[in-house]
Amino acid sequence: MKFEIDFTERHMATPSDARTFPDDFVWGSATASYQIEGGATEGGRGPSIWDTFSHTPGKTLNGDTGDVADDHFHRWREDVRHIADLGLDAYRFSIAWPRVQPGGSGDFNPEGIQFYSDLLDALLEAGVKPVVTLYHWDLPQELEDAGGWTNRATAEAFAVYARRMAEEFGDRVDVWTTLNEPWCTALLGYGSGVHAPGISDPVAALTAIHHLNLAHGLAVREIRDVVGASAKVSITLNLHVVRPDDPSSDLDLDAKRKADEIANDSFLGPLLEGAYPVGLRERTASLTDWSFVRDGDLEIVKQPLTVLGVNYYSTARARAWSGEGERQQADGHKNSAGTPWIGAEDVEFLPQPGPWTAMGWNIEPAGLTDLLLEMHERYPGLPLMVTENGAAFDDEVTVTDGVARVHDPLRVGYLHDHVEALGRARDKGVDVRGYFAWSLLDNFEWAYGYDRRFGIIRVDYETQERIWKDSAHWYRRLVATGTLPA
Ligand code: NOJ
Repeated sequence: MKFEIDFTERHMATPSDARTFPDDFVWGSATASYQIEGGATEGGRGPSIWDTFSHTPGKTLNGDTGDVADDHFHRWREDVRHIADLGLDAYRFSIAWPRVQPGGSGDFNPEGIQFYSDLLDALLEAGVKPVVTLYHWDLPQELEDAGGWTNRATAEAFAVYARRMAEEFGDRVDVWTTLNEPWCTALLGYGSGVHAPGISDPVAALTAIHHLNLAHGLAVREIRDVVGASAKVSITLNLHVVRPDDPSSDLDLDAKRKADEIANDSFLGPLLEGAYPVGLRERTASLTDWSFVRDGDLEIVKQPLTVLGVNYYSTARARAWSGEGERQQADGHKNSAGTPWIGAEDVEFLPQPGPWTAMGWNIEPAGLTDLLLEMHERYPGLPLMVTENGAAFDDEVTVTDGVARVHDPLRVGYLHDHVEALGRARDKGVDVRGYFAWSLLDNFEWAYGYDRRFGIIRVDYETQERIWKDSAHWYRRLVATGTLPA
């Protein structure tokens, strides 16, 4: 169902001149397998840690699971039509490892491979470049039963899986992304336990960080071996923009550094510089001797990247904790057993001023400009791509003359202001090559289930009807013109 957006509608953007992006700038939108596919027991798919976790009482809001999700497994042709109608240059999606290799090692599943093969063909036919993520959190349960990401064997299994995907799809994938937000996998999955597999153990989390980094390096080698040196490879990180509460306080600057080390540098360091942050290693020495990092590993991890994927939503504010009273942790990631801020136990996170999205995340587009600039300064010559940005808001459907509409000016404003923020980084010379709106469709928002809607296209979970929100119409126009209205 389509309609023309009323462009007289006001949005939150600060007035400025219209901004035009070059023709080769990549406009896309993104999804992930467990969040949209459903078909959890169909087509030979094996169980993943998210099946197990979401079926465990109390782990997700309302007990929601990805069993059906957006039923994309059956409706993918329709979804490709939406992608084509939006005029997207690229579509970022993930392959469900348990769909193509149900146990995570051993036999591959031809039906699962066929599913993605058909999807890739349909995208290419529609003139859309596939940006493929190999791991967006749905680890085959069998691998978790053997220790998951705390087990080095998982990294080795990932390399085998990646090689096979490169063999099957290397002729059709435009950009390969090894991992999506490994911070979430390691620190939320094994640190705070709010994500699958729901473990709260700092040593497990640190071990997982390394095995994820190792998995990335091993997989890149396999992909390049199969596809050739020209294969475009990337990893997507959710780099945290941590503001010191008082920028003139050395203690708060130190708090920010500790937060940065666990959240950002434990990935950027090994991936791009070949080393883990010394401070983090020192502060965690009483927990672990880091012997999970073996000789030669860091050379494997540090592979040349074609592009670095950056997901950006919000910012955080840190200050040194005096040790008195209750330590604040206003980042929403804590459960009673643990936090993701390992090596930053004397840091507290303060509530950020609004406005906020329905996730409670503060809206701060300038954080994106700052982040892109910082990456550019730290890693000159490394192209960047914003592989996710978007917002959940409490959408309402209004029906006029039998036509359903979703007026979502807040989401339009959010997207507008972040594309503008990206443009400002480009103005300063940062090589940002693309932008992917999260998400194409409303979907399973992990521990928040279906309660939080990020889509530019609404999904009616009763009927599976897709309804373009105003933001979809707005985005289509941006993609078509390459011009961000003032
Ligand atoms: C990042 C994750 O990659 C994605 O799966 C999630 O839905 C969005 N952030 C929003 O939380």
